Amino acid sequence: MLEIKNITKSFQQRGVVLNELTLTVNEGDSISIAGPSGSGKTTLLNIIGLLDRPDSGDLLFRGVRILDYDQDSSASYRNKNIGFVFQEHLLLPYLTVKENILLPLLASEISGNEFDKRVEDAEEMMKKTGITELAGKYPDQISGGEAQRATLVRALVNRPSILLADEPTGSLDRKNAENLGDLLVRMNNEYGITLIVATHSAELAGKMKLRYNLSEGKLFQVTGMQK
Ligand SMILES: Nc1ncnc2c1ncn2[C@@H]1O[C@H](COP(=O)(O)OP(=O)(O)OP(=O)(O)O)[C@@H](O)[C@H]1O
Ligand SMILES: [Mg+2]
Repeated sequence: MLEIKNITKSFQQRGVVLNELTLTVNEGDSISIAGPSGSGKTTLLNIIGLLDRPDSGDLLFRGVRILDYDQDSSASYRNKNIGFVFQEHLLLPYLTVKENILLPLLASEISGNEFDKRVEDAEEMMKKTGITELAGKYPDQISGGEAQRATLVRALVNRPSILLADEPTGSLDRKNAENLGDLLVRMNNEYGITLIVATHSAELAGKMKLRYNLSEGKLFQVTGMQK
């Protein structure tokens, strides 16, 4: 579904971060990307989400070259296909949990019926993630783990085909990290959402079907050991 071909990306002071990086992602894959701080994990996710552009290389989504997209097409690609979970939860402080979760629906071009269905979906996911009771609270009234779960639901309301998660368990304790990891796996199994997860956590990486290390600007598949 996603072909990342010979992507190179440099930053002025840092030099080459991604170096002719190539990766093919199939529908329903779950992929972890590990690698030291500064190795380029976030940069890669940003490029896949069209939040940043590579210097060279190509990016195909379901056979279409998406690097040629203008701003509107990029926004539409993101809205329709991509869900983001960032390390910092980025909930808007002046909206309630429920309002935060439903916000992406307002930006999507969907009809009344479809809208209602997705609100129902969101409510279902809130139940599954145990945050229904928090619907009317504001982000500063909930814990980090609760905010992270709300962010995940928000990332999923538009039914993305790919979920890009950047250190989604970075700020969570063991228990919450474990729960969120399991939830990601369930989204992958039950809804077929393709997962690309950047993480330092071996535990979270171990839950993914394919594991990669990002090193010297390239991805290397990790084999063996972990389950
Ligand atoms: N906008 C930018 N301008 C200049 N340099 C940048 C920019 N974004 C990232 N970099 C540099 O590119 C390198 C890769 O950054 P990136 O954020 O992708 O790393 P990472 O693997 O996500 O690290 P971490 O594990 O700490 O999140 C770093 O050296 C960083 O300083
Ligand atoms: Mg990062």
